Amino acid sequence: MVWPLIQRPKHEPPAVQTAPAAARKLDLAVRPRRNRKADWARRLVRENNLSVDDLIWPVFLCEGENTREPVGSMPGVERFSIDEAVRAATEAAALGIPALALFPFTDPGLRNEEASEALNPANLVCRACRAIKREVPDIGLITDVALDPYTSHGHDGILHGERILNDETVFVLVQQALNQARAGADIIAPSDMMDGRVGAIRAGLDSENFEDVQILAYAAKYASAFYGPFRDAVGTNATLIGDKRTYQMDPANSDEALREVALDIEEGADIVMVKPGLPYLDIVFRVKDTFVMPVFAYQVSGEYAMILAAAERGFIDGDKAMLESLIAFKRAGADAILTYFAPRIAKKLKGMG
Ligand code: PBG
Repeated sequence: MVWPLIQRPKHEPPAVQTAPAAARKLDLAVRPRRNRKADWARRLVRENNLSVDDLIWPVFLCEGENTREPVGSMPGVERFSIDEAVRAATEAAALGIPALALFPFTDPGLRNEEASEALNPANLVCRACRAIKREVPDIGLITDVALDPYTSHGHDGILHGERILNDETVFVLVQQALNQARAGADIIAPSDMMDGRVGAIRAGLDSENFEDVQILAYAAKYASAFYGPFRDAVGTNATLIGDKRTYQMDPANSDEALREVALDIEEGADIVMVKPGLPYLDIVFRVKDTFVMPVFAYQVSGEYAMILAAAERGFIDGDKAMLESLIAFKRAGADAILTYFAPRIAKKLKGMG
């Protein structure tokens, strides 16, 4: 679009070097800088705001008691034993963070070809859900549906030769989702990218009277290098054979994301997600614009690590970069953001940090 130029009639340009100060003025009627002249003025015209209500905190779990294990590639991020996760949930609730997303580091001895630990009612995620729901009933719990923390090969599905079997995997995912719902999960979040899983999970949940359990579909999830530190955190970097490009999306595609989102909505997704975040803001924008549904974005582990690593070396101001990246998500149309910065931002927004 070409904007009409609202400018006074052309006149002789001032002779800058020799003219007196007054004559050096440009004859501009429109000066966008006026609205930026002071903090109060900028606040009045601000189009987007970041609030604690926009934040979901992804939390890594590990076995043990009173245990916090640092994740090497994610400075400031730790895996929590269940008691520590309960403490973290209490803190998050006090800060006003609406929900946590739980991810387990499964004992390597419990990982196998069929991901059977995913269906264990006493697995780490299920025990954490029960413990957090008991102590902090008012925080939302989001659980990830995908088999990668449980498979010996690190894939999100059942592997046969070199193929990830779609329908066989969906059958297991439905049981995994039910296992999580029975443990008290409020939102089931399939991140596996198998075809048809949202509809199958919806039907499964409804068949056990979990019709109020929401589905947050990782609808447009790309095969991304930015998941590296997450795979460290859940221990799949060591196990993963090959890559996930036969099920996660090609980063070159955008229309395909709309088809994926349309399918998940048709199948019953309550909320759709785009992942990763910052490199895919065009997708967030298109999805929000097209479907007018709640859209979440995931600022993934690699995005977090990049900001922190640069900040640690003094290349950028970490706090400012963190806030700028999050307001960018809001501007693109995201309703909420999964971010490892959640507690830090919540404190900042409350004037505590
Ligand atoms: C597992 C899953 C992944 C992430 C969330 N769920 C990794 C993957 O697909 O390999 C990535 C999150 C992050 O990088 O922060 N299905």
